[in-house]
Amino acid sequence: MKLHISKKNPDEYSCDISIFFIRQSEEKKKKIACEKSIFADVNRAYTSGDFVGREGQTLLLYRDSVPSSGKSKVSRILAVGLGKEDVGEEMFRKAGGTVASTVLRTKARRIQIVLPEIPDFDRSLMAQALTEGLVLGAYQFRKYKTKDDDNGEKPGTIDDVAFHVPGESGDVRKGMVRGQITGKCVCDARDMSNEPGNFWTPDHFVMYGRKIAKMHDLKCTILTKEKMKALGMGGILGVNQGSAQPPAMVVLEYNCGRKKAPTLLLVGKGLTFDSGGISLKPGQGMEEMKYDMSGGAAVMAVMDAIGTIRPANINVVAIVPATENLPGPTALKPGDIISQYGGKTVEVINTDAEGRLILADALAYGAKKYKPKMIVDLATLTGAVIIGLGHHRTGLLGNDDELAEKIISAGERCGEPLWRLPLAPEYRKQLNSKVADMKNVDKRDAGTITAAAFLEEFVEKIPWAHLDIAGTAWDFTEKPYIPKGPSGVGVRTLIEFLREWE
Ligand code: BES
Ligand code: ZN
Ligand code: ZN
Repeated sequence: MKLHISKKNPDEYSCDISIFFIRQSEEKKKKIACEKSIFADVNRAYTSGDFVGREGQTLLLYRDSVPSSGKSKVSRILAVGLGKEDVGEEMFRKAGGTVASTVLRTKARRIQIVLPEIPDFDRSLMAQALTEGLVLGAYQFRKYKTKDDDNGEKPGTIDDVAFHVPGESGDVRKGMVRGQITGKCVCDARDMSNEPGNFWTPDHFVMYGRKIAKMHDLKCTILTKEKMKALGMGGILGVNQGSAQPPAMVVLEYNCGRKKAPTLLLVGKGLTFDSGGISLKPGQGMEEMKYDMSGGAAVMAVMDAIGTIRPANINVVAIVPATENLPGPTALKPGDIISQYGGKTVEVINTDAEGRLILADALAYGAKKYKPKMIVDLATLTGAVIIGLGHHRTGLLGNDDELAEKIISAGERCGEPLWRLPLAPEYRKQLNSKVADMKNVDKRDAGTITAAAFLEEFVEKIPWAHLDIAGTAWDFTEKPYIPKGPSGVGVRTLIEFLREWE
């Protein structure tokens, strides 16, 4: 999708479809407020009651001339309702998504967007949100489709988008570029999660890490199985025992060049398929466990964005521990005791609580080696978070109020809401083991919190936030720009968090 700015009169710009946005009015008026060139048509639909500008409502018109300038170069007009909620970025993100899905149902390829004039609302934010919505709403994963769609029709695409901005356009361009970078990285994260377990194995994280490192001049280090053995990473090695695919830990480093700049450590769960291991999961729905690497995918995608944005005041290290969790003949068994990086021992009660074991090694290693000022981890860690928050909010837990607040507000701004759950010694006590330093699970009670209490043991009291994305990484609240399936959640929150930091 190529995006650019057009200064031409909307009627004279040659494209397949012109998009206009219309707010719904609080009171029932005789006429709807909208752009002059489409006024007559839209008002006909308005007075008939067919189109009122409700959120997500669309009106597609076909015509060959416009009253103002005779022959128009645009044969389709699409009016999109914005609703009557308070104006905000989410309104435009959704509108962008609606534009994308509506256009994809037509044969249009080149579109023009006429920005609405909304006093006191930052046009840069508007352009960013619309672009994000467009790019995310147009997302499709068709890699494994050998045919066009069921009717034999070619799936739609949007090749070219022009934002119509008559005057000074620097702010719109800035927003558009930001939205495009973010949108692309979220789509990449969705692609990784959509990939099946027989394709996206740990070595794919390695290849992806190397690729973006090369693209953006980041440092990429791979901890191989041998290196993990030497370092004593019994968590990831234990989880990997039942699998024929070797594990990998991908480390990417972005250095802003300022000696005194703080370091942010990102850790993402890269479990490329979670069968549960010997504590085997039920068969139904197990195929979805290919997305147990969505935290790792998000962290990788964020590093790609960071490589492009190049923040000036922060260093970022990303670690993705990657392995499958399978019940092979040499697999970890319930009751086994492993030793995590740093020496803490863990009694493995349930081999399906594997995420915390691989994250613990990554967190402890990252904390020790990089001395970060703060740590954020993303993981599809517990089914319990879905019981608690459904698919609508990411669970956030952590040891630092300020960091938690910053992440929550970044998520709120970008349409990825979070909800904080508590941490306290009584939850940690649930993990006391009779034979080792701790066990990996207790009974089901407070499953999301005890998982975080486990991780907390490995962050050395560094300010840390844990995002349990088990509910939101897949089938996140459906919105025009979020399809069913992988959502790429976390990417936008982290990019927003970093932009705010700057
Ligand atoms: N990957 C799962 C968590 C998960 C469950 C993600 C459902 C998405 C949807 C994790 O490794 C797991 O299996 N957790 C167990 C922990 C339990 C054994 C304490 C769970 O949540 O059932
Ligand atoms: Zn599991
Ligand atoms: Zn898992």
